[in-house]
Amino acid sequence: MFDRLPSIPSQSIQLPLLVQKEVSVTVKREDLIHPFVSGNKYRKLKYNLIKAREEDQDKLLTYGGAYSNHIAATAYAGKLANIQTVGVIRGDELASVWRKNPSLRFAHQNGMQLEFVSRKTYREKEHPALQGYLKQKYGRFYELPEGGTNPLAVQGCGEILTQADMEFNVVCSCVATGGTLAGLINSAAAHQQVLGFQVLKGNFLRSDIRNFTKNENWRLITSYHFGGYAKISESLVRFMNNFKDETGIQLDPIYTAKLFFGLFDMIKNDRFPPRTSILAVHTGGLQGIAGMNAVLKKKLLPMIKV
Ligand SMILES: Cc1ncc(COP(=O)(O)O)c(C=O)c1O
Repeated sequence: MFDRLPSIPSQSIQLPLLVQKEVSVTVKREDLIHPFVSGNKYRKLKYNLIKAREEDQDKLLTYGGAYSNHIAATAYAGKLANIQTVGVIRGDELASVWRKNPSLRFAHQNGMQLEFVSRKTYREKEHPALQGYLKQKYGRFYELPEGGTNPLAVQGCGEILTQADMEFNVVCSCVATGGTLAGLINSAAAHQQVLGFQVLKGNFLRSDIRNFTKNENWRLITSYHFGGYAKISESLVRFMNNFKDETGIQLDPIYTAKLFFGLFDMIKNDRFPPRTSILAVHTGGLQGIAGMNAVLKKKLLPMIKV
């Protein structure tokens, strides 16, 4: 699948607000790349799997949380690439109940071995004690960090933008570890402004992103994280459901919903001058909806339409 990528469509959004503000929004439908290895996951894994193959590695080990898109996509991509996968999962309490979690069940069904560790151990994953244990148990492996961000992942994300995308004034994406945004910044034209909508709280991202790029035409938007990573509100669910009704585009609750909510809020508040053309990258993540809907149902909150 990494040898030949079908061309990725861009979808122009038609909404009265955009006509009123004289701003255009086009969605780069990276979510359509593949049903299970979609969006930035495909981009981040591509060169890492090629490198693993070159190194003759037969095992890939990576890290993630209970609902991680990266874990689910790596499991499936590993199966396609014929490389065994190991997922080190945050939270040893999940060891007895993971079969109820759709993301972990999917990863397991696609051949990933799951290794549950306590939250404390997970926070200190570079510690020699954990690394020694993993080496002893799994032998030689190709290691990918949490979220899959490393220089090869950034290189892959640099391929999201094509020549045709250089006509836009603004390029937007959501940001967690910053790898996707760094790739976009590296490949954007000098006249373009790249905006990253942070989906988590914190001030560390700017310097993380600077590790991967020297360009300066970018900015982080920090006011639409909804309280932090994977935090959600009724208004965000309502926004997602309306957006789907109006555009036909399904968003995910953890990443892309926060990007589009923030982007449309900024448009409403005249943060873009008339005739601005915006390209917003849909980075996928739709597998996370099932897990979030289970949480919303438990809390008796409105659920995400699928
Ligand atoms: C669907 C989706 N979009 C965006 C992101 C954020 O990407 P990054 O961690 O490169 O900032 C992630 C997390 O990796 C993701 O799963």
